[in-house]
Amino acid sequence: AALALGRLGADVVVHGRDPQAGAAVVEELSRTGADATFVQADFADLDAIQDLAVAVREETEGLDLLVNNAGGLFRNGGLTDAGVEYTFHVNHLSPYLLTTELLGHLREGARIVTTASGAHKGASLDLDRVRGADRYTGFKAYSHSKLANVLFATELARRLDTTGREVTSNSIHPGAIPGSGFSRFLPGPLPGLFQRL
Ligand SMILES: NC(=O)c1ccc[n+]([C@@H]2O[C@H](COP(=O)([O-])OP(=O)(O)OC[C@H]3O[C@@H](n4cnc5c(N)ncnc54)[C@H](OP(=O)(O)O)[C@@H]3O)[C@@H](O)[C@H]2O)c1
Repeated sequence: AALALGRLGADVVVHGRDPQAGAAVVEELSRTGADATFVQADFADLDAIQDLAVAVREETEGLDLLVNNAGGLFRNGGLTDAGVEYTFHVNHLSPYLLTTELLGHLREGARIVTTASGAHKGASLDLDRVRGADRYTGFKAYSHSKLANVLFATELARRLDTTGREVTSNSIHPGAIPGSGFSRFLPGPLPGLFQRL
């Protein structure tokens, strides 16, 4: 997405966990003429999200687009340092925090796009699950977090509308993407089958 946006003429702040991978994307973006920087942040760490938001505010004069895409399906559950179930924290809580931290930095006409998933359709909101009270299964936790993405993006759109701000909020299902890392924690033969889609 970062590279595609660069090709469309955008300057891009690239977020990730791996500085080497980030540097490679920044280098490629620079070759297309984009002004690009990398900021590292682990979405399991709320302080890192606050620092990420500060860095974005310092390095840019405003944003035309915020893409909440980091996330995935994780084999192991457990609680983050904030006491929140890991998948919910990474997939929903951190994008939620980042978005609210950057709302005031979005220009008029800006878009917020949150990568959700069709997997949300099988889920219902269960706030006990957020505290890890339920037995962990990767797909159930994933579906639940993606439902939270959809609810957040939709409610944010409604609230933005009432403020009269020209900022849109949408969630998307990108489809099943072979070659992505999404399938690595699917059980049994599913990772191999997924890559052949
Ligand atoms: N692929 C699909 O078929 C599919 C379908 C529906 C929805 N989605 C959604 O699409 C989005 C992108 O996933 P993908 O399919 O492109 O999978 P991916 O290749 O595994 O990419 C996921 C990205 O999220 C980052 N990430 C994971 N945990 C993180 C954390 N704790 N802190 C910061 N970054 C973290 C990963 O960083 P690292 O490289 O450091 O791990 C990676 O850059 C996800 O929200 C996923 O749920 C994907």
